[in-house]
Amino acid sequence: MTRQILVTSALPYANGPIHIGHLVEYIQTDIWVRYQRLAGNRCVYICADDTHGTAIMIRAKKEGRSEEELIADMSGQHQRDFDGFHVEFDHYGSTHSEENRGQCHFIWKALRENGLVTEKLIEQLYDPEAETFLADRFVRGTCPVSGHKDQPGDNCVCGATYSPTELIDPVSTLSGATPEIRSAVHLFVQLEKLREFLSDWIENGDALQKETANYLKGYFLAEDKELRDWDISRPAPYFGFEIPDSPGNYWYVWFDAPIGYISSTEQWCKLNGESFDDWWRSESTEIHHFIGKDITYFHTLFWPGMLHTAGYQLPTKVHIHGFLNVDGEKMSKSKGTLITAETYLKHAEPDFLRYYYATKLTPRVEDLDLGIQEFVDKVNSDLVGKVVNLASRVGKFAGLTGLSETYPDDGAFRKGSRGGQRDRTGL
Ligand code: MSP
Repeated sequence: MTRQILVTSALPYANGPIHIGHLVEYIQTDIWVRYQRLAGNRCVYICADDTHGTAIMIRAKKEGRSEEELIADMSGQHQRDFDGFHVEFDHYGSTHSEENRGQCHFIWKALRENGLVTEKLIEQLYDPEAETFLADRFVRGTCPVSGHKDQPGDNCVCGATYSPTELIDPVSTLSGATPEIRSAVHLFVQLEKLREFLSDWIENGDALQKETANYLKGYFLAEDKELRDWDISRPAPYFGFEIPDSPGNYWYVWFDAPIGYISSTEQWCKLNGESFDDWWRSESTEIHHFIGKDITYFHTLFWPGMLHTAGYQLPTKVHIHGFLNVDGEKMSKSKGTLITAETYLKHAEPDFLRYYYATKLTPRVEDLDLGIQEFVDKVNSDLVGKVVNLASRVGKFAGLTGLSETYPDDGAFRKGSRGGQRDRTGL
């Protein structure tokens, strides 16, 4: 029977370029989608840029242009890069769309009606120069436990974790100013109220890899711990959607980002005369998300909770992959191993990386290593030495049978003996 499958990759942040780490996921998903189609299934591949949040707001201000201009520019760059790697989405949207605003309102109403939203006054650091509240990653200071200097806003090399308001001598990384402590009302989703549903979905369902289900069970769903309320609002100024029944407060980017999966599908449906309900409200459609391990709990706790509350279909499968290292180490700008898609494409063929990742990926949540020499060797021995060599030999036979007129001579293939092959990786 033909399966109807909706597939998504995580929505890349609009504030940075696509790099070879991201590409692990988009290439993995694209290959999976192509396989499903070859197997005769109906498969629609949806993605979008994730556009909201403080980082975009600050950068747009710095560059003297509007957030809308900045995200339009980044969306163009992202789509160019994905095209360059032959990643073929059926639709590429944006979380800054009217469809997304509408879906956010709809899901929010369902959360409110189900009594899942509560308000709390919380203290947060505020940058008086940049005139914005500071997320943890925009603050550095001295660890209140060990006294280590220049530590991030929420944890120290000594292993301590703390709130940024506890840091000694905090400094805003946005402006260098000393932040003030200010209090503001935030809205929270009470996840604990969804515990029964979540436990059942995680433990008895089939949507998660075993290791992920076990991790969630042991870490978040342990009986002696309450699921923490999820802070889903940010006070103005914030680039995002204002919460309709809480003026001056905006949905935190992680609230509206996954909703982008739904709104981008909605756009695709409108453009293709499809029924939206057939895709997000039909038990006969499978929903498959591909994501990296760093965003597991957004997709396995908050997201199913939101979908369940709003009456949407739950993910059939969340396929979680590990992180890319290069030559055994974390990618690093200073070591030149954080290679952007654009840079890679200036030097080598996209299919080399597609092939390499395809040989390295597994169904497990394990990190994978791009060994530069191994990459060169694999391309030369497998792609050039085997695939191209086979084509070359077949080409010769075709020549003997007169087919060479239909398939014009390709000198590189014809002459390619093992010894004479060039290093085609370009690296
Ligand atoms: N915007 C969020 C996702 C929202 S989904 C509703 C985000 N964006 S991201 O640009 O940081 O990452 C996009 C995807 O690429 C994520 O699944 C992330 O795990 C993956 N990767 C980013 N860097 C990666 C590596 N170095 N290695 C493998 N995957 C990586 O998260």
